[in-house]
Amino acid sequence: MTQQFPMVYLNGEYLPLDQAKVSVLDRGFLFGDGVYEVVPVYGGEPLRLASHLERLNDSLRGIRMASPLSASQWEAIFRRLIQGEQDQSIYLQITRGAAPKRDHAFPQGELAPTVFVMCTPITPAPATGVRAITLQDIRWQWCHIKAITLLANILLRQQAVDEGCAEAILIRDGYAIEGAASNLFAVVDGILLTPPKSQQILPGITRDLVVELAQSNAIPLEIRNIGEEELHRAEEIWVTSSTREVLPIVELDGKQIGMGEPGPAWQRMNELYQTLKTRLRKSV
Ligand SMILES: Cc1ncc(COP(=O)(O)O)c(C=O)c1O
Repeated sequence: MTQQFPMVYLNGEYLPLDQAKVSVLDRGFLFGDGVYEVVPVYGGEPLRLASHLERLNDSLRGIRMASPLSASQWEAIFRRLIQGEQDQSIYLQITRGAAPKRDHAFPQGELAPTVFVMCTPITPAPATGVRAITLQDIRWQWCHIKAITLLANILLRQQAVDEGCAEAILIRDGYAIEGAASNLFAVVDGILLTPPKSQQILPGITRDLVVELAQSNAIPLEIRNIGEEELHRAEEIWVTSSTREVLPIVELDGKQIGMGEPGPAWQRMNELYQTLKTRLRKSV
């Protein structure tokens, strides 16, 4: 039987994934010169689409590129690619395009950006929680830009996986700032903590949602830096992202967090998050 490939979008065309091709001179391929977004979709409806597109435009501005498409054009592409009601995520990537020759500096004149979009199913993260390790943050200093240049994140995540962990929590200047592909929350002395937005972390859309849910449900929350030693004595640790939602960490650096299982604050937050998803599904 021949394999069925999902449809993707590439530079104005819809085509099966195995037929989507880009030039070897594409600056995304040669330099990682581009940005991306990941938007979760529940019941066929993208979650917080406007915020994702706003962050995309911020990332584009950060690398001195104009947005190639308007919000309504993006949405039209997404709606064509979304497959049914299953939980899925939209991945979109824009690179500076294929220049006539390899040169670090931007090419002279106009260059057509490469625009790629695909949709993939989301597999639910284990509700039993996962293990994590702390690692020194070896990334660059503009982590607020969602750049496709992810080598440091890849190496950090792989080191975590090699040690039987699902995520690396990154330490910069003695503070725990975020995960290799997620934002960080910790419950310390009964208060939910998350680091403030800065150039050191990605301004996560899921992070914003969790902050809003805490604020509107009278969950004590402080947005402030989390010291490395404070993280180690936290009652609960969670990481958040569009595809892993609110994921509890039950073991850090080989030591149990709290009772070694998802804690009561996580149970409450996860309930609120799942309710929000259910409402989105029903709104369709
Ligand atoms: C470094 C990093 N921080 C945070 C996040 C979470 O962002 P969001 O909640 O918007 O998916 C991601 C997501 O991929 C990430 O790569």
